Amino acid sequence: MISSAAAAAHPNIAFIKYWGNQDDDLRIPANGSISMNLEGLETRTTVEFDTQLTEDQLLINDEPANAEALQRVSQTLDHIRRLADLDTSARVFSRNSFPTGTGIASSASGFAALVLAAATALGLCLSERELSQLARLGSGSACRSIPGGFVEWQAGMDHDSSFAETLVSPEYWDLVDYIVLISSQHKTVSSSQGHKLANTSPIQKARVKDASRRLKVCRQALLARDFGAFADVVEQDCVLMHSVMMTSSPPLYYWEPRTLEIIEAVREWRGEGLQVCFTIDAGPNVHVLCPESDSEAVKRKLTALANVRSLLKCTPGGPAWLLEPEISGV
Ligand code: DP6
Repeated sequence: MISSAAAAAHPNIAFIKYWGNQDDDLRIPANGSISMNLEGLETRTTVEFDTQLTEDQLLINDEPANAEALQRVSQTLDHIRRLADLDTSARVFSRNSFPTGTGIASSASGFAALVLAAATALGLCLSERELSQLARLGSGSACRSIPGGFVEWQAGMDHDSSFAETLVSPEYWDLVDYIVLISSQHKTVSSSQGHKLANTSPIQKARVKDASRRLKVCRQALLARDFGAFADVVEQDCVLMHSVMMTSSPPLYYWEPRTLEIIEAVREWRGEGLQVCFTIDAGPNVHVLCPESDSEAVKRKLTALANVRSLLKCTPGGPAWLLEPEISGV
């Protein structure tokens, strides 16, 4: 017997970052975070529970996934199977509309879509909060891709208290995120490995201690659509996270020379009066943020930079959503 469902989700970009866990297994983060879903990028995932299967199967972008990715997906499915009181294996097909492993968080959209599709296929009627908690177990940032728009993940202290919720809807603020693709290489150190190193940096304690202040400033700047205050706290939070990464043992350097060139250009443009700022996840690509009103000028300037080869434009995106299941052909 086969029961299937399909779902899609956007990745998200964090304005206040998640780096380091209180509990690595449950992905209870050291601090809360705030993000925006990225309309323009998405992962589409079909899950088919099939009583004929003896083990889970995973295809990402039509290629069989490696053992590590399969294990992570199986563990996430196990949580959902437990809720449904079933042990049926599943076939999972997942496709990204963007390059995997570039620092554009494909694990966020991937696990959000997976959890929604799997829960639906098993007939579970879960709340947004429960879906966010389950997505978090697969990948921390995935809990922020379940609700729509601008989202806050409450760190919490256990499984039930750690989930994400919408702060304001996508329409609230017309921010644009230009993702400057510096490299499409797979990252050498995954975020999951990186989180485990966070506490080896002497800076992490100070970063976490100050997080509630940065969260408050960012929340208020978002609500007031105050780009100046937003830009300052977003850049500070990003550089604090990268300082922790660079001072961990072993150190993690995600920036490349071209990353720094973009940072320098963005800072110069803001100095000249353009509303623009940067943030960077666990990779070399730079997310250049600006209000829609300044986006044409920012685009012109970015494309005029010699080292910019590829630019993706994203706007605030909605929540994870259900799709018509695809025919697997198996
Ligand atoms: C730098 O959610 O990818 O993008 O929980 O191990 O899957 P896992 O890590 P992940 O970490 C994201 C780190 C970040 C910052 C952020 O998105 O908040």
